[in-house]
Parts: sequence; structure tokens; C-alpha cells
Amino acid sequence: MKTVEDNIYDYPVYYDLIFGSDWTAEYRFLEAAFKKHVDGKTKRVLEPACGTGRLLYRMTKGGYTAAGLDLNAKAIDYCNARLRKHGMKETAWVANMCDFTVKKPFDAAFNTINSFRHLSTEKDTVAHFRAMAQAIRPGGIYALGFHLTPLEGPQTDHESWSARRGNLLINTRMWPRDKDTKARIERYNLRFDVYRPTGSIRIDDCLVLRSYTHKQFASMIKKVPEWRIEEAYDFSYNIDEPIEIDAETEDIVYILKRQ
Ligand SMILES: C[S@@+](CC[C@H](N)C(=O)[O-])C[C@H]1O[C@@H](n2cnc3c(N)ncnc32)[C@H](O)[C@@H]1O
Repeated sequence: MKTVEDNIYDYPVYYDLIFGSDWTAEYRFLEAAFKKHVDGKTKRVLEPACGTGRLLYRMTKGGYTAAGLDLNAKAIDYCNARLRKHGMKETAWVANMCDFTVKKPFDAAFNTINSFRHLSTEKDTVAHFRAMAQAIRPGGIYALGFHLTPLEGPQTDHESWSARRGNLLINTRMWPRDKDTKARIERYNLRFDVYRPTGSIRIDDCLVLRSYTHKQFASMIKKVPEWRIEEAYDFSYNIDEPIEIDAETEDIVYILKRQ
């Protein structure tokens, strides 16, 4: 099989085939979180690191005024093309989530599946939460989903996914390459094996993610006083079951409230 080393986010069709159908639980949870945690109504929602618009498209379809930004121009083109195809406004733009502004504040924001961990330094992370504070009105929320580093117990770091559409079949695998605990940098191999009638291809990428224990996250977010941790949930996305964070907590969705 032909192998290339490349940025997987430059292949929005393949990314979206693997992850695009997985949206219902997150969508329902986010709607419930808007109702439970936002002061007043939620009409305008923002997704930093929106990628292909997996969730952004569904939010627009669900009647929200939804917008998103992402560093990757190919993902944004894909996202806007899908919105256009369905007669919706092209509301996604290319920007860095550490450094962006919006014309009119939003009521709520969401950022799931570890995207925020792409910010590899404390400086960038703090800049991100400052930019988000400008983008969300007081009383609004930011739902942030990612994997914490548990202080005790096992850590999930091997994952695999598979998806097929017509003649296109993709098998995906993610496994750790190395971890620098002191620098808080974890590198993961990410492999997409793509089987298609025109020839199969293997795309190998390396994801670089910053690590957080729950204590490290709590101390970082204190640096941006516009945000307070309001509640926490896990990837079961059950709005009726907030979690108590402890040493074994790994998958988490923080609800940050804009002060
Ligand atoms: C795992 S994907 C998630 C995409 C989308 N949120 C979803 O749920 O399908 C991570 C995304 O983060 C984007 N990204 C990484 N660093 C970024 C940055 N500094 N600013 C904006 N987007 C960034 C990547 O381009 C990629 O599209």
C-alpha cells in the first residue's frame, strides 16, 4: 500500500467519513447543557476548531445561528461547501483559536474531542480562553470536552475506528508514540488506511497534544477570571449525571461559565 506522511486534517473527506456520523449524543447533550447552564436563551453558538463542521452543520440545521473557525483551510472549505449545499450561510472561517475576534458575541460555545489540546503551551491556552471570553456573552457557557491524564488507574490511549461509504472503506488507528510528562507533551501516531477503487493509500500522521491533570486544568483556567468551572460531565453525555472529578477521571466535558 502506498504510504504518505501527512496532516490528516488536510483530508476532510476521510476525516468526516470516520467521525462525521458520530454526532447525536454530543448534539443532544449540548442542547440540554444550553438549557441547563446558559442564563437566558441560546440562539447563537460558536465552535472553535470546528474542522469539517460535523457538529456545526447539525447545529445550523437545528435552528441555531452557528459559526465556527479552524486553522485548516481545507477543513473550512469542506465545512462551508456542506453548509452551502444545504442552502445555509457559509459561517466558518479560517482562524487560530488563540487569536480571533467576533463581531457580535455568542450565547454558547463548544469544543469537543480533544481539539483544545492541540494548543501546546500555557501561553496559547490562556490566549485561547481570553479570545473566547471576548466571543461569549456573560451568562453564556463554553462546553469543553477532552481527555484528562488520570492521576490513578489506567489511561486509554489506543483507539480505532472504521467506516465505509460505497466503495470507500477507511480503517483508523491511534496509539501513543511518546510522552514527555515534564513538558506535558504527548505524541500519538494516527494512521488512516484508505481503500478505494482508484488505489489504496495509508496516511500516517502524528498528533501532538498537551496533557492536563484536573489540577493543572483548574489552575490554568484561574488565570482567565472571565471563566469559572460550573459543572463537569463525562463522555456518556448524560446531562442528569454530572460527575465528581477525582484521581481516576479521564474523559471530561467541562461546562465553563462566562462571568
Ligand atoms: C479532532 S479535530 C476536531 C474537529 C471538530 N471539532 C469535530 O468535532 O469534528 C481538531 C481540529 O482542531 C483544529 N485546530 C488545531 N489547532 C488549531 C488552532 N490553533 N486554531 C484553530 N483550529 C485548530 C484542526 O485543524 C482540526 O480541524
